[in-house]
Amino acid sequence: AEVADRVPLIWLHMAECTGCSESLIRGDTPTVDTLIFDYISLEYHETLMAGSGWQAEARLSEAKQQYAGQYLLAVEGAIPTANGGHFLTIGPHGHTGLDMVHETAENAAAIVAVGTCASFGGVQAAAPNPTGAKGVDKVIHQPVVNLAGCPPSEKNIVGTLMYFIMFGKLPPLDMFNRPKWAYGARVHDNCERRGHFDAGEFVETFGDEGAEDGYCLYKMGCKGPYTYNNCPTERFNHHTSWPVLAGHGCIGCSEPNFWDTMADFEKP
Ligand code: SF4
Ligand code: SF4
Ligand code: F3S
Repeated sequence: AEVADRVPLIWLHMAECTGCSESLIRGDTPTVDTLIFDYISLEYHETLMAGSGWQAEARLSEAKQQYAGQYLLAVEGAIPTANGGHFLTIGPHGHTGLDMVHETAENAAAIVAVGTCASFGGVQAAAPNPTGAKGVDKVIHQPVVNLAGCPPSEKNIVGTLMYFIMFGKLPPLDMFNRPKWAYGARVHDNCERRGHFDAGEFVETFGDEGAEDGYCLYKMGCKGPYTYNNCPTERFNHHTSWPVLAGHGCIGCSEPNFWDTMADFEKP
């Protein structure tokens, strides 16, 4: 294999909504153009690459050989496993997403699951999970870093890629294989409404006086006390806002199986 001058990145799309890619392109430290022109070489990404059709598929198989053992693999989306994986096929030959992940993971230097779908199955895996959707680490044997969140913030994605590029290894992880630098703190502990929680000042219905005064959203279903993520400190979209600042409780989107375990989102 050739030695790459920038870290090659192969990004696969499985069963997903592309919200995680939308998050990626809003990166600002560095911006996505700096990221893909100066630090990584984006070999394959179905929604960002210029090539399409057979050229795109050819590039994927070339890159896997050319940079074997050196490329980073990012997977966005859950992997459907029922019916032999045939709920998701990509390319002209009915190639399943499951096969694609197996084949691409084989020679990857490191594997990152981007988003809650790729980390834990996400909404596709919510009961009754008709497609047998699973997180990446349930279908391969290699270690996987879970960048949980629906979507994860651009900082959590880019920061983890940059950590690998700078240090040549992956960052320390928590019990769900999420990087501790991003998921080490509880949402509730850094929330700007926390003073109101401690004072017993709660929003009782959306639009009431407490809502106008920025009271705590716990009684409106906020799952911040059960959720680990850096949304309150890092925020989204160039540090503009995050769910609780915007007026809705946290729905626990970076926790495993939150669709089943933390719904209903507007009840405590
Ligand atoms: Fe979309 Fe959320 Fe899945 Fe990302 S984790 S692909 S934003 S549903
Ligand atoms: Fe905790 Fe949610 Fe209240 Fe913030 S709004 S203090 S995260 S319960
Ligand atoms: Fe998700 Fe809760 Fe942050 S819903 S985006 S972890 S505030």
